[in-house]
Amino acid sequence: MTLNIVVLPGDGIGPEVTDEAVRVLDWFAAKRGIPLRMTRHLFGSAAWAAQGTTMPDATWDAIMAADALLFGATGSLDQKHIPAEERRKGSLLRMRKALDVFANLRPVKAQPALAEVSPYKARTVAGADLVFVRELTAGMYFGTPRGVETQPDGTRRGVNTHTYTEAEIARAARFAFGLARTRRNHLTSVDKANVMEAGALWREVVTAIHAKEFPDVTLEHMLADNCALQLGRAPTRFDVIVTDNLFGDLLSDCAGAINGSLGMLPSAALSDPGPDGKRRALYEPIHGSAPDIAGKGIANPLGAILSAAMLLRWTAEAPAEADRLEKAVATALASGARTADIALPGEKVLSTSAMTDVVLSALEAS
Ligand code: NAI
Ligand code: MG
Repeated sequence: MTLNIVVLPGDGIGPEVTDEAVRVLDWFAAKRGIPLRMTRHLFGSAAWAAQGTTMPDATWDAIMAADALLFGATGSLDQKHIPAEERRKGSLLRMRKALDVFANLRPVKAQPALAEVSPYKARTVAGADLVFVRELTAGMYFGTPRGVETQPDGTRRGVNTHTYTEAEIARAARFAFGLARTRRNHLTSVDKANVMEAGALWREVVTAIHAKEFPDVTLEHMLADNCALQLGRAPTRFDVIVTDNLFGDLLSDCAGAINGSLGMLPSAALSDPGPDGKRRALYEPIHGSAPDIAGKGIANPLGAILSAAMLLRWTAEAPAEADRLEKAVATALASGARTADIALPGEKVLSTSAMTDVVLSALEAS
């Protein structure tokens, strides 16, 4: 059965990097027989400009019917004129919620080719190999009440609510423990149990699931602020990190520093398997629309390309092909291929598509 992949390029560098990921997936369809069909759809500010809505019905229907989404990035400076209701309609948060993709996997793996070149020009931390499981469909970004309200004295107050149910914590924890079993069997659960109610409940639920269902996995608890420090100081100590939506957002960007560039970090957002045994899935690089470099053809496409590798692993269920692609990326970097964000002074700088060309050559040679 051909897998129906809906491509949502979005704003800024989103279209630039998703085009490259699609080129790579086309190679796997043509050369490795992976049954993939990619179709592009408009949403967000591009759809607003073309059709006066941020989420055309055809796009929403395609999203709901897709085997997986390949997403670029959303967010542009000229969104202010789009009515708030329309912005919500076309938002990434709405898609994540509707697809129930609660488990957000964000692997961070140091590329040996980008190892430290001197104590002052460290680009990656050698040996770092960790993965975040960020809870993605609850917590601070979804909790109610939320909004800006006017108080009796006429001044305004912004409100967000940090809320987690036991069930929401439990399914993220189970996913993370299961993933740890396939890796180095070590889970760090990150919260602010000392000051946040939902954080205290988070710790309680994770501890109980560990004792009952995953006693073979080593579990440690860590406060989120300490985790930020440890990611900078000793990232090689981590294997799997499970945390809530807000902390996962912040800490995985911190991890971008371990890896050399935000532009190289992929992600997958997955649901539990449905009645048909299939997970819903949304793949995207973790970076945003990068308006500062958009339109110049200089964005690093490797975050999007490594997200395509995650698609091969989880949706196409072709782990050997995912490994092949990850190796090709490492080979490209080892051969000296560099986009501007990872080049040192004096190194030759490749464009977005030239970087992909090097990855495709490595695939051809694999
Ligand atoms: P950003 O991730 O777009 O950019 C941060 C920095 O990293 C910039 O200096 C950018 O040039 C650089 N960068 C990002 N991706 C790169 C790549 N592939 N190659 C080379 N350099 C890269 O974050 P920022 O600037 O905070 O946000 C810009 C817009 O993106 C905002 O509208 C924000 O809301 C949106 N955003 C969207 C996300 C998504 O679609 N999932 C995630 C994060 C931000
Ligand atoms: Mg972020």
